[in-house]
Amino acid sequence: MTLWPRTLLWRSVLLIAALLVVAHLAWLQIFRASEIEPRALQAAQQVISVVNLTRAALVTADPGRRFALLDELAQREGIQVYAGDPVEAAPALPDRPFLRIMEARLREQLGPQTRLALEREGVSGVWVSFRIDNEEFWVSLPRSRIERNAPLRWIGWGALVLALAVIGAFLIVARINRPLRELTRAAEVLGRGATPPQVAEDGPAEIRTLSRAFNQMAADLRRQDEERALLLAGVSHDLRTPLARIRLALEMLDDHGSADLKAGVAEDIGDIDAAIGQFLDFARPVDAEAVAGDTDLNVLAQAVVERYTRSGKAVRFMPSPLPPLPLRAQAMQRVLANLIDNALRHGGGNAEVVTGQDQAGAYLEVRDRGPGIPAADAQRMLQPFTRMDSARSTSGTGLGLAIVDRIARLHGGSVRLLPREGGGLRARVELPPAKEARG
Ligand SMILES: Nc1ncnc2c1ncn2[C@@H]1O[C@H](COP(=O)(O)OP(=O)(O)O)[C@@H](O)[C@H]1O
Ligand SMILES: [Mg+2]
Repeated sequence: MTLWPRTLLWRSVLLIAALLVVAHLAWLQIFRASEIEPRALQAAQQVISVVNLTRAALVTADPGRRFALLDELAQREGIQVYAGDPVEAAPALPDRPFLRIMEARLREQLGPQTRLALEREGVSGVWVSFRIDNEEFWVSLPRSRIERNAPLRWIGWGALVLALAVIGAFLIVARINRPLRELTRAAEVLGRGATPPQVAEDGPAEIRTLSRAFNQMAADLRRQDEERALLLAGVSHDLRTPLARIRLALEMLDDHGSADLKAGVAEDIGDIDAAIGQFLDFARPVDAEAVAGDTDLNVLAQAVVERYTRSGKAVRFMPSPLPPLPLRAQAMQRVLANLIDNALRHGGGNAEVVTGQDQAGAYLEVRDRGPGIPAADAQRMLQPFTRMDSARSTSGTGLGLAIVDRIARLHGGSVRLLPREGGGLRARVELPPAKEARG
């Protein structure tokens, strides 16, 4: 149903309001049911007194003064008396419990021939018949004598109470919702892999417990990250130092052995060094770098591409105009370098770097003409340490795309590994409009 609101706040308010309306109506019904009988009996009693007094006055009055008496009753009390015809049919009484109870009481007290009507000969009023010596009379009272005068006022009060209750419900739910919203925002930040702000540990006990648990969890994650980074940095340093010494020693070695062997060892050293670099990148707390509000992705990409072309790699750059973006420059350079490395190593050796924007925001693509990645494996390749079987013969750690994915998510974006028309891979990094990328 489209009217059903999406947020917890409005759903709760709506539910509470509906509940209140139902409760209010039920209460009104109970009240009416329990109040109707005493009210009908009371009204009947009033009418009975009027009839009895009128009849007594008529019976005992001097016949010559009867008219004056009737006149006075009409003037002072709004009570009118008319002679009637016992065979005349009075208009039927509306079928209301109130009137039925009243009529029964009247008949009980004034005799079974008593009739009650709300209208006679076109005149509205409370009409009651009575007899004097088999002659029928009708006495009429203003209807206001038996009717509750202001049901509208009741409705007004009811509406006011209801409105207050709904406002109250809104305030209560909003109060519960505020910390929940804060938690949601923090969880989103955490989901992107960034460090969420501390959420306030206040409000009702359950929310407080939840906030505290969340803060605890975020702090634990953060500490684990730091410990992992420290460990890896330590290991990497301890590996890189001897590696540098070996490289140096290799340079100084006389050309006793074969030059091929020397070149092979140098290449292995390069691979190990690159792998250590990947481990370090993967371990580095990715949100350590601050966001620069208006980074030009094209300038950034140009610099990375030039680094490759200078060393003779086949990388082409095809930029389109882009708005300034809130990016972490170093992290984005790493993204681009990892994707170009993949295109050169797994994708046939030629890379095209394309930038642009569409409705979804800015994008960065690295295209190649290699074997591509089957759609079924695309998501899996974003996991750390996963590689296609065909990549086993090449060096690498399986961390490159995991790093790209993490950095993209940190910017509120995503990575997709798409098939390229005519064969090859399109590794596409999508960056949403500025406001969502902050964090
Ligand atoms: N451009 C590409 N063309 C074909 N396969 C690719 C491409 N890029 C990545 N892959 C596949 O995805 C795997 C994971 O890539 P990555 O995480 O960068 O690790 P690595 O490059 O260290 O192997 C690669 O091993 C390869 O099998
Ligand atoms: Mg790689």
